[in-house]
Amino acid sequence: MQATAWWQRGIIYEVYPRSFQDTNNDGIGDLAGILTRLDYLVELGVDVLWVAPIYPSPMEDFGYDISDYCGIDGRFGTLADFDELLKAVLERDLKLILAFVPNHTSNKHPWFLESRSSRENSKRDWYLWRDASEDGGPPNNWLSNFGGSGWEWDATTKQYYYHSFLKQQPDVNWRNPSLREAMFDVLRFWLDRGVDGFRVDVMWLLFKDEQFRNNPINPAGHENSPASQRLLPIFNADRPEIHGLVASMRSVLDSYGERLLLGEIYLPINQLVLYYGKDLTGASLPFNFQLIQCAWRADAIAQIIREYEAALPPGAWPNWVLGNHDQARISSRVGAEQARVAAMLLLTLRGTPTIYYGEEIGMRNVMIPPQEVQDPAEKNQPGFGLGRDPERTPMSWDSSRSAGFTEGKPWLPLGEDYPTRNVVNLSCQRDSILTLYRKLIRLRRSNEALISGRLKGVVANGNVLRYERSDDVKHFTILLNLGHEQEEISLEGGRVVVSTYLDREDYLFERNISLRPSEGLIVNLR
Ligand code: NOJ
Repeated sequence: MQATAWWQRGIIYEVYPRSFQDTNNDGIGDLAGILTRLDYLVELGVDVLWVAPIYPSPMEDFGYDISDYCGIDGRFGTLADFDELLKAVLERDLKLILAFVPNHTSNKHPWFLESRSSRENSKRDWYLWRDASEDGGPPNNWLSNFGGSGWEWDATTKQYYYHSFLKQQPDVNWRNPSLREAMFDVLRFWLDRGVDGFRVDVMWLLFKDEQFRNNPINPAGHENSPASQRLLPIFNADRPEIHGLVASMRSVLDSYGERLLLGEIYLPINQLVLYYGKDLTGASLPFNFQLIQCAWRADAIAQIIREYEAALPPGAWPNWVLGNHDQARISSRVGAEQARVAAMLLLTLRGTPTIYYGEEIGMRNVMIPPQEVQDPAEKNQPGFGLGRDPERTPMSWDSSRSAGFTEGKPWLPLGEDYPTRNVVNLSCQRDSILTLYRKLIRLRRSNEALISGRLKGVVANGNVLRYERSDDVKHFTILLNLGHEQEEISLEGGRVVVSTYLDREDYLFERNISLRPSEGLIVNLR
């Protein structure tokens, strides 16, 4: 299937703005900082910048608690800074997509202040208000993803409101037509300014059961699982009404031309692919997190690739992700050697790849001392490893104090390895992970077979994952050793295009080839 749209052909790069580049030395990254690093992104070879929330926010959940959808938080800059950044992005032929957080606002958002002011207020129904149950407790058993009941009592109006996340993040009511229009106006506000699309936060959570029925117990939950995982979210997630709403969002975007609707969705493959919508009128790309969730084994990965490809509706375009600001970094999950194999996998699979900032330099999770923990996910349910600070630490640009990220005190600690693991240092090394990323990206960009080509023959042979990418012009065989032992592969002979070791480009082989431990190869067969 020919990839025609820019979001099918391009590579997405996630910038977590707090941690990318600080220019005013408050220890927090900003828009002017992203601007100074655009040329780095061009050189890396990515196409689409996805910037996590930059809107005014009390920062209880680091920007995912928005108090004004149409402004810029002072910590990140101004609307003028935003326009300047967007202009510079477009001048470089890049695309910019923003965060759209439509499930909840901040409790400081004027909409919520009005809604909670009285039961008669015209915005009362913009949020999910319910009476107490007969015993005075919460209306049902729904939990917050950050721990505890999802319901918060409001003493003034004597009702509970629902929050899927913090109590400072009340969920809105998408059944209310005025709320819906107000949210669509937010999309139009940014589309009018020229953005190329949105990454929609928790797309699968936007609708809740109209009858507010109790969730059943999760049979897989146990006393050691976090409280937030002890029920099955049947009635407050993935409700059937969601698909109509996603289609309406998509039509707002479509009225501006080719725009990207990227949905954050954590669901099993068969439910996930429904988010492409009837006749592909839903999300352009429902995020595919299978590589984050599956075991790092050749057979497991082969299976998810096959299952995902088989489940895609006709014409639907795939996508792959190794990490994001909510997940442990790939290099910490699978180790430094396998992170290189993961890069080759990501950049040779069929579908749009997303790179999380720092993946290209092999950044690792950083241990956060208890007194420096910032993330409410860790603070509210400590000890379960739910905290996301470790993967959100500042980008390492160089070996200077604070890694070239700031001249102030970084809001989160730097990785101990930053003096060597940084952009400047790795750029000079011919076999670094950064050099590997650049090479793989260049190869992908210059070979249609790796963009639009067919994906075939996905198999696991012991620790080796193998597949083919080809079009009428080129044929690539990809061999990835997911194990730590040498593996012998019998092939017809051919030429190595890239090794993850970056030391045997153009190497010709007859019949057999050895894969060293954790080696990935792209080869042209004879
Ligand atoms: C998903 C976001 O990626 C995460 O960072 C945030 O905490 C929740 N949604 C709530 O908005």
